[in-house]
Amino acid sequence: MAALQWWQAGVIYQIYPRSFQDTDGDGVGDLRGITARLDYLAGLGVNAIWISPFYPSPMKDFGYDVADYTGVDPLFGTMEDFDVLLAAAHRRGLRVIMDFVPNHTSDEHPWFVESKSSRTNAKRDWYLWHDPAPDDGRPARERLPNNWMSHFGGPAWEWDERTQQFYLHSFLKEQPDVNWRNHEVRAAMYDAMRFWLNKGVDGFRMDVLWLLIKDKEFRNNPPNPEYHSGMRDFASTLPVYNANRPETHEIVVEMRGLMDGYGPTLPGHVDAKETDSAMEKQSARSHRVLIGEIYLPLPELVTYYGMPVKHGPAGTPGPETPELNGANLPFNFHLIQVEWNASAIADVVRTYEQLLPPGAWPNYVLGNHDRRRLASRIGLKQTRAAAMLLLTLRGTPTMYYGDELGMVDVPITPDQVRDPAEKNEPGKGRGRDPERAPMLWVNAPNAGFTAPDATPWLPIEADWQTKNAATQRSDPKSMLTLYRRLLGLRRQHDTLNAGAIADVAAEGDVLRYRRVQLPDGESTDFQVLLNLGTEAATIRCAPGTVVLTTLLDGAGARVEGEATIEAGEGLMIALD
Ligand code: GLC
Repeated sequence: MAALQWWQAGVIYQIYPRSFQDTDGDGVGDLRGITARLDYLAGLGVNAIWISPFYPSPMKDFGYDVADYTGVDPLFGTMEDFDVLLAAAHRRGLRVIMDFVPNHTSDEHPWFVESKSSRTNAKRDWYLWHDPAPDDGRPARERLPNNWMSHFGGPAWEWDERTQQFYLHSFLKEQPDVNWRNHEVRAAMYDAMRFWLNKGVDGFRMDVLWLLIKDKEFRNNPPNPEYHSGMRDFASTLPVYNANRPETHEIVVEMRGLMDGYGPTLPGHVDAKETDSAMEKQSARSHRVLIGEIYLPLPELVTYYGMPVKHGPAGTPGPETPELNGANLPFNFHLIQVEWNASAIADVVRTYEQLLPPGAWPNYVLGNHDRRRLASRIGLKQTRAAAMLLLTLRGTPTMYYGDELGMVDVPITPDQVRDPAEKNEPGKGRGRDPERAPMLWVNAPNAGFTAPDATPWLPIEADWQTKNAATQRSDPKSMLTLYRRLLGLRRQHDTLNAGAIADVAAEGDVLRYRRVQLPDGESTDFQVLLNLGTEAATIRCAPGTVVLTTLLDGAGARVEGEATIEAGEGLMIALD
């Protein structure tokens, strides 16, 4: 077995805690609910769970507005519930990744309450306060410091009458941005990270990591020449001065340095002494994973892996494969954003592989709580091929809860809207409620998500009677069975984790690539063929034996020279 760290060989599963499992009948999921479902997750075959925020919060943005970085919101349970969850997960070999929200706090966080109290408060500089633009006859409150827009609609500036200044909020006005140039802020955030690392959490998914630092001079963003009024406000300018600023990398390096100081939480970690390549030594050092939420084009995304770590005295040449000092996994969302066809996806994979700096470990994401559900985006028929794609590409896959059941976007009527993004900019396609609907567990009222007589916080998907996990578990051809098989194969075959990827190409509507064994690894190479079109396709293929079809019907068949693949079907072939 190649020496990979758990976050390289493993599969990450995102849980949106409001929607996973409710145990107290209030219609909102909780930590005890997650603990109750750990056997399901271990049985599914994932290796780590990332849980969206459960910190104390006024819930204006459902927990992404944190009022205390070292607590648990009573809605989700208690700190003891979390300790029980962490221990129970670790007993099953499951890692736990926290969501950390460094860019902004809640406006009810004591830091902001202090900061807002006066211009001379010691924490004034912890947030981004700014004077109004020079007097032009308009009242001060109308003279915005610059043209930066909020991601959730309207300007990113909010006027504070008492202290006669604006504060910056990249999201809701109830989510003021903190000032990451202030070293006290950094120290306070790092202390909060240590609090959880000391408890034994296995890593962080850092919210909007590429937005942390803003231009020191608060320069205006250039207008977006392609903007039209049907687009959301944020698209009116190009985020040149409030995103992806060079100094952001300094912070990523600091976070990574802090986290690399922590040891393994579970036995079975990689021992650096047993490995030879620098790549493996690097992975061996990162027992806790640093993941960054970063929406950027690939060439910029890969810079978040960081720079080679210098060894020895300044100027001495580093090792051949350098150790990098940035994020372990800058989330790669390009499979979510790309047009769903073979040549576009082949392009993404090839470009990404070419751009990855030496020492960087790839990763792919197919869905999350901010984007339309996979099955709604690409159509149910394509989701099986998508599952095979995600779980056979080179790199760490991140799955979104419910995708393993083929859950779709749930229709939300205007009176059911909960998401502030939709409330602020109605009808612009911003709403994130549809992809946040409750998990479907059993064929019973409320699909087992909450008590039968409770009202779930969002509506239950209409197909719950057949789509729930229990029903799919006993169906040998269900989507859930497919995910279990794919996850099983990933565990079983080292080539799928550690092997190279080769010959990524589109042949008509068929996406094809090979996973190639390591020189000293097992003796299987795999050919993956995915038909992303609407018609069956026959293409040539080296001889081998079918290991898995996404329709779960053809395993064991021989392939001699060519293979026929149904629309939306995927084949995995063990080459002779
Ligand atoms: C991230 C989260 C999103 C949240 C936003 C503001 O993009 O994924 O859900 O609304 O940050 O914190």
